[in-house]
Amino acid sequence: MLVVVAGATGRTGRRLVPLLTAAGHGTRALTRSGDPVPGAQAHRCDLTAASATDLDKAVEGAGAVIWLAGPGGGSVESAEQLDNVAATALMDACVRQGVRRFVLVTSKGTAAPERSPEFLRPYLEVKAKAEAHLAGTGLDWTVLRPGGLTDDEPTGKVALATSLGRGKVARADVAAVVAELVGRHDQSGRALDVLGGDTAPAAALDEATPKINIVDFLFDLKRLGRVHLAVFGGSTGEAMAEAKVHFTGWQVSAGYVNYFDGPELHFSRKTRWRAEFGEGPGRHSGKHEYWVMVHNERGEGVFRFGLLRPEGSEEHDPELVAAFHAFREHYTLPEA
Ligand SMILES: NC(=O)c1ccc[n+]([C@@H]2O[C@H](COP(=O)([O-])OP(=O)(O)OC[C@H]3O[C@@H](n4cnc5c(N)ncnc54)[C@H](OP(=O)(O)O)[C@@H]3O)[C@@H](O)[C@H]2O)c1
Repeated sequence: MLVVVAGATGRTGRRLVPLLTAAGHGTRALTRSGDPVPGAQAHRCDLTAASATDLDKAVEGAGAVIWLAGPGGGSVESAEQLDNVAATALMDACVRQGVRRFVLVTSKGTAAPERSPEFLRPYLEVKAKAEAHLAGTGLDWTVLRPGGLTDDEPTGKVALATSLGRGKVARADVAAVVAELVGRHDQSGRALDVLGGDTAPAAALDEATPKINIVDFLFDLKRLGRVHLAVFGGSTGEAMAEAKVHFTGWQVSAGYVNYFDGPELHFSRKTRWRAEFGEGPGRHSGKHEYWVMVHNERGEGVFRFGLLRPEGSEEHDPELVAAFHAFREHYTLPEA
């Protein structure tokens, strides 16, 4: 597969290129200078000056795009131009060009910049904006958030989880995780912290990935009883088609709401899929929503269940919200 790397000349990027080559990928390195990059095809592209057409050319034909570019210090404004404006423009180019996989390397702390030291906060906020944009693109994305980067020798071992404490990680080990993530579609739609640790990247990703038995999961979902659930279309359009084949009792209405009314299941009990829980402003409604996204083993979002508000109400029923939280707790692995 052709992998496009933004930041391939950087300290993490140049450690990544040989790993991609070893994994059988070709690399297109986006560089400001256009100078040769060993092991990669150099493609001149100043990311902050590039037009949409330039970015389309930069990602054309790629199977995956990796963002490892960074401003290397400098003002918040220069960080904004690179880490947010240019990064999101590159994501949009991927959408236009049909490049599905995008791995975005940001930084630990972007999940809650307000908890970080004041001098770091605006830089984390910039990266958080890019993460939020990526989550809305519909791409097959993963965000990797490293702790403090070092130039230490690779250890081949890391710690990975949705949330980790403070720590450092060697750039070479981050590169190894990124190389692994390229083909790990089961990590789609996730953001993971990475620090130095004791586990090889592939195994660390497995361990950090809660897996569910889809059949039990759906029956449990149904058992919540008074929780009224909907399946959303949009990015799960294909899944809806699949769902209609496998489930009876779907009442398909216009728009995005399809009522879940008694499944007749044909999935194997051996199927182990991943559930991702979320809450926040809905992309369509702009109101606070509660949802569960179920990914199959290829990392594709298959079902998205959202809590419905009572008829005619702007507010969710607090009992249903409590049930949702209990359900999430039951199906979420503890954070490391
Ligand atoms: N430093 C840390 O402790 C830390 C912690 C967490 C996360 N991060 C993030 O981790 C990633 C990798 O960090 P790193 O230290 O390995 O990076 P780095 O050595 O600073 O390399 C930055 C890369 O970005 C490229 N770049 C900068 N501006 C560009 C532009 N306008 N157009 C095209 N390319 C541009 C650079 O290209 P040139 O070769 O042309 O300069 C270089 O390849 C970055 O996203 C960084 O923000 C860093």
